[in-house]
Amino acid sequence: MSTRENPAPRGRGRSRSTPRVGPLASRAGTAPRLDTDALLADRAVEIIVCCGSGGVGKTTTSAALALRAAEQGRRVVVLTIDPARRLAQSMGLTELDNTPRPVKGVDTANGGSLDAMMLDMKRTFDEVVEAHATPEKAEQILANPFYQALSSSFAGTQEYMAMEKLGQLHQKARKKHEWDLIVVDTPPSRSALDFLDAPERLASFLDGRFIRLLLAPAKGPARLLTAGLSVVTRAMNRLLGTQMLRDAQAFVSAFDALFGGFRQRAEKTYRLLQADGTAFVVLAAPQADALREASYFVERLSVEKMPLSGLVMNRISENLVPELTATTAEAAAQRLSESGEHPLTAHLLHLHAERLGQLEHETHLLQRFTAAHPTVASVQVPALPTDVHDLDGLRHIGSLLAD
Ligand SMILES: Nc1ncnc2c1ncn2[C@@H]1O[C@H](COP(=O)(O)OP(=O)(O)O)[C@@H](O)[C@H]1O
Ligand SMILES: [Mg+2]
Repeated sequence: MSTRENPAPRGRGRSRSTPRVGPLASRAGTAPRLDTDALLADRAVEIIVCCGSGGVGKTTTSAALALRAAEQGRRVVVLTIDPARRLAQSMGLTELDNTPRPVKGVDTANGGSLDAMMLDMKRTFDEVVEAHATPEKAEQILANPFYQALSSSFAGTQEYMAMEKLGQLHQKARKKHEWDLIVVDTPPSRSALDFLDAPERLASFLDGRFIRLLLAPAKGPARLLTAGLSVVTRAMNRLLGTQMLRDAQAFVSAFDALFGGFRQRAEKTYRLLQADGTAFVVLAAPQADALREASYFVERLSVEKMPLSGLVMNRISENLVPELTATTAEAAAQRLSESGEHPLTAHLLHLHAERLGQLEHETHLLQRFTAAHPTVASVQVPALPTDVHDLDGLRHIGSLLAD
């Protein structure tokens, strides 16, 4: 897998993929269509990353893409981050053992397979420590309360560990040829950008000034402490408590040797995300803030030279009675409620008019996105009446994604 050398035009897929920008489509002002099945069939694609702001359907879409790819003949592993319980159960993700397990009920007639796992952030962190420190050092670190807090709750740890796990899976896929496609869900952060930013933030936290500040009193002779620094230390003591600060210092001393390793690993995975074999799929719901996030993310991918495949607009309202306009429906509802007859029909007509209003709003938002990113391929997935909690539901989403 080679790192891209020349920046690709924004919104285009990988350089090897067929352009998805039809001249007619762009002239008509509509977005080019994201060809999901072509993406899944492209053997050069080894990693698909599903990103987007919280609650837009990342986990569902990752699982649906993974299942569809597997049933079309690819050997897939999907890394989910926070699957809803019922969905997790349907994929056999009941054990949190941090390794991929085969999913039952997948049609393997085409020679594909599907393994799935759920990220255990703390365990992934522990494993990195164990793999890189001597047994005594590792034990010391793992037992440290500051480490325990950091590994289970520090903002950004989940993003970092998702990347770490992706790196591990990719290495395993390379070595053992167990999988030919890794589909990655991303953590439930408010902002999609956190996935790209958090690892660097965590790394600079771990090897940056904060750490040196903490280390200084532990390592250096007291006279080297400037008055300013001891003021800071005293303030932190008050804020965090003496024990906490001592734990942090002990952790940092023990962790020192791992810093370089951590940063290097994060950088390596970052390069993996820029490689030709990676495809980003950005998720958005038809809401102003979700689309704004998607916009930022699309721009950021372009800056980072990370290959974008397209945008999934998820949970779009559907027009169930296309021949009935909002005005007609509303007028009919009005007439019925004045006459006092058929109250249920009147209510339904009113709901239809309301839904059309919503649809118009969504269409407007989508058009705005498309106008700002005319070359970004996209696909729309309607809002289903129920949530997606089993393989059949995932298959259905998969077929809608490829529609
Ligand atoms: N197209 C859809 N129609 C109906 N429900 C959906 C759709 N996409 C996702 N959902 C539901 O929305 C909820 C959030 O989806 P999820 O994939 O967990 O979002 P995220 O991972 O981005 O937080 C889940 O209950 C899921 O079943
Ligand atoms: Mg999720």
